[in-house]
Amino acid sequence: MDKTPSNTQMPRIAEHRLTYQVGAVEDFGDHAVAMLQRARHVWTSAYAPYSGFHVAAVVLTRDGSMLAGTNQENASYPVGICAERVVLSALSCQEGGGEVAAMLVLAGRKLEPQGEWMSGSGKPVAPCGMCRQALIEQIKRQKCDFPIYLAGMQGECWHLESASDLLPFAFFEF
Ligand code: THU
Repeated sequence: MDKTPSNTQMPRIAEHRLTYQVGAVEDFGDHAVAMLQRARHVWTSAYAPYSGFHVAAVVLTRDGSMLAGTNQENASYPVGICAERVVLSALSCQEGGGEVAAMLVLAGRKLEPQGEWMSGSGKPVAPCGMCRQALIEQIKRQKCDFPIYLAGMQGECWHLESASDLLPFAFFEF
């Protein structure tokens, strides 16, 4: 005799999983390709004499324009600011503000003495915890989540449909 409890007797447990996609940037369409081009262009404006790790973050806004930021370090290390928060702050300062439709992050390290640029690990880099919290605040402000693309200097690109997935159990209400 089957002793398995019926579905109606089972506790109603909701299970949540993170889904993200991995592919070449071209696989994610024209917007992603355009954002990567812009990121490659602006990437050298990163000021990273202490870590040697250069990051560019590009925002595609709802009105179709693009805004870019790079990490800016400081001899007093905690003063430094990541590329993601640079571009989010720049967006907030635009007249009339702006809403994020998508973000792309490009990260890599400069190899001396050749001066070649490459991704530190050969893989994309995910935003730090502080930037994830800043992304959550942006999502809350604009009442709309957005996709985020994470790219290295070569190879694969990671795509999360909802940037908020980067920070489950986020703190946003008190
Ligand atoms: N960094 C970013 O700008 N964004 C990230 O997502 C990860 C880390 C910067 C901070 C610092 O200037 C350097 O990369 C090394 O941590």
